[in-house]
Amino acid sequence: MWKNIQPAPPDSILGLTEQFKKDTNPAKVNLGVGVYKDNSGKTPILGVVKKAEQRLLGEQTSKSYLPISGDPAYGRAVQRLILGDDSETIQSARAVTVQAPGGTGALKVGADLLKRFNPQATVWVSSPTWANHNGIFGDAGFAISSYRYYNPESKGLDFDLMCEDLARIPAGDIVVLHTCCHNPSGVDPDQAQWDEVVRIAADRGWMPFLDFAYQGFGDGVTEDRYAVERFGATGKDFLVASSFSKNFGLYNERTGALTIVCPSAEEAGVAMSHVKTVIRTNYSNPPAHGGLTAAIILGDEELYQQWLLELGAMRERIREMRRALVKGLADCGVDEDFSFIERQRGMFSFSGLSDAVVEYLRKEKSIYMVGGGRINLAGLTTENIDYVCTSIAEAIQNAG
Ligand code: LMR
Repeated sequence: MWKNIQPAPPDSILGLTEQFKKDTNPAKVNLGVGVYKDNSGKTPILGVVKKAEQRLLGEQTSKSYLPISGDPAYGRAVQRLILGDDSETIQSARAVTVQAPGGTGALKVGADLLKRFNPQATVWVSSPTWANHNGIFGDAGFAISSYRYYNPESKGLDFDLMCEDLARIPAGDIVVLHTCCHNPSGVDPDQAQWDEVVRIAADRGWMPFLDFAYQGFGDGVTEDRYAVERFGATGKDFLVASSFSKNFGLYNERTGALTIVCPSAEEAGVAMSHVKTVIRTNYSNPPAHGGLTAAIILGDEELYQQWLLELGAMRERIREMRRALVKGLADCGVDEDFSFIERQRGMFSFSGLSDAVVEYLRKEKSIYMVGGGRINLAGLTTENIDYVCTSIAEAIQNAG
């Protein structure tokens, strides 16, 4: 069967990790995949996660199936986290949440659900966006188009052009928005700009699909959910794909959620009935461990506070690395102004480095970045930062 079939290209992000693992250069640095690393270059298990897992293992009496929609306590905890404790959306039961295998799983379940009832819609993604958005919505059978977002000149948000495009999107189409810590650019709208985006969405009648994978990596858990709260206040339909991969470090437990917010509790019930059929035919019901662990933490005030501290430490370390990179590049005599890196938020920065420089760094220096120049700042450490800065300076000189 496969004899005349061409192999598929490696994944633009996860394929890079495969390449990195094979690289024998002891100085190699992975600034590719969006995985947090501590200052020793390790991806730690959070202390609070260890505690919750111990409790879970001690108390768990069965490995029987979860419901199709996942652990109900997990669903409630996710809603409080992404919408806020006092959310009217929660109080009026207008939101339903299903546990999903990671943020990617949540996006795919949502995409398949929307495709059933809105098959002619176009899905609009930011330019640029996380490469897998195109894969997920494309595989679900949607036509994909893009709205303007990032300005390579200013290294910031092209807000006017973004609004111009969003205001032209027809009712019923689906618009994917990064709730915070835009991937790949690290450039987010501010609160006033979100207000405007929410206004346009309500006015035009397109369906917002919020990708919320980095809650807590921008300014904080509460600050980062601003857009979700504002969309909730409109009383209109939208979806949120959220993830605990990054903020709980539960990458390989595939712990995410799809939340569907509707104008009424009745409609939310209908949405839930259908999303369960999507899940049932895909993977039947979700894996339990990550969700049960997260639910323990989110349901226990002491553990919750510990989690906020550990998350804050991750956020602060990444900020420090942003500052160190900007200073390090200036110290190496790089003329270009990289100060924008300090203004960008979350794990990523669009470095502005050309593809030729990115390739030089990978081939000559074993420093791995995603094509287009996306850097995962969390891959930098006080140990490798000098090597990275001198290598970038050399690469710009030789290949820039
Ligand atoms: C990334 O963008 O690097 C992460 O979201 C991991 C992934 O699945 O691509």
